[in-house]
Amino acid sequence: MATGDGAHHEGHQKAGKASFEHIYDLEDPREYFNTLGGLGYEAPRHGYEIFSALIGAIEEMRPAGEGLTVLDVCCSYGINGALLKYDIGLDDLYARYGSEEAARKTSAGLAADDREFYAARRRPGAPRVIGLDVAENAVAYGVSAGMLDAGVAENLEDHEPSGELQRLVSGVDLITVTGGVGYIGGKTFERLLDSLPEGRKPWIAVLALRWVDFGPLAELFARYGYVTEPLGGRTFEQRRFADTDEQEYVCEELSRMGVDPAGKESEGSYHAYFYLSRPADEAAGSRVEDLVDPGRV
Ligand SMILES: C[S@@+](CC[C@H](N)C(=O)[O-])C[C@H]1O[C@@H](n2cnc3c(N)ncnc32)[C@H](O)[C@@H]1O
Repeated sequence: MATGDGAHHEGHQKAGKASFEHIYDLEDPREYFNTLGGLGYEAPRHGYEIFSALIGAIEEMRPAGEGLTVLDVCCSYGINGALLKYDIGLDDLYARYGSEEAARKTSAGLAADDREFYAARRRPGAPRVIGLDVAENAVAYGVSAGMLDAGVAENLEDHEPSGELQRLVSGVDLITVTGGVGYIGGKTFERLLDSLPEGRKPWIAVLALRWVDFGPLAELFARYGYVTEPLGGRTFEQRRFADTDEQEYVCEELSRMGVDPAGKESEGSYHAYFYLSRPADEAAGSRVEDLVDPGRV
């Protein structure tokens, strides 16, 4: 099958976007939460609302009681996993990892406490969440703390998936991405879809910044029999700009692309669109807005 064109790399590697690479692969998530919390990073909050609605919709199509598996791509320390699996919110995570108590712990001590913390908060019927990220330490933390049921550190932009990843994703029902498209593009999705067993067609749910041209990804998914729809009626605030230079850069880039930043990025934050890709037969009976109410998420 033909490859995605790689243009999506552009997304997060644009020159004027603040870089957070230094917090992506630490021994534990404290710095990640403290840094991104300081900028009001909200993508996992929106992700939780959207993904849990989709999980409900997928469950309705399946025999009752059948467990559901989510693959969170660009999972980092397992934030989306924690929100889907446990009865906690994003604010709880910011408070927990930003606390003075957390600051006094070693990474191993924090992970040990996390295991108890999460184990006591399991949501009934929670999905199994598998994480994929290039950041080895982050994935290892997520698995050790219980935010992820399993995880692998691989870069599918550059390499074919390992046997372990292929085995883990073989039963996946929903692929989720927050804050990741741009770092990953067509190549990652193509390799994932190619590695699935015949007939396995997970829904693909992506929050992507407004400067990501989703067209090439939608075309790639169409070649695998998917229909992609943007959620109409709203955008999702992702985080505040690090400074006015970043804001000016983003607003200029968007204008250059024909996306009007007025009332959105011009107010001080990145905004994202939500895209849902489903197999054509499953997409035929409903619109994305029937599954994810734009007024409620
Ligand atoms: C902004 S963070 C988003 C993390 C998480 N999804 C969230 O919303 O909090 C971007 C993540 O993409 C990961 N990443 C970057 N390049 C990647 C690649 N080629 N494959 C997988 N993950 C990648 C980074 O390590 C980082 O964890």
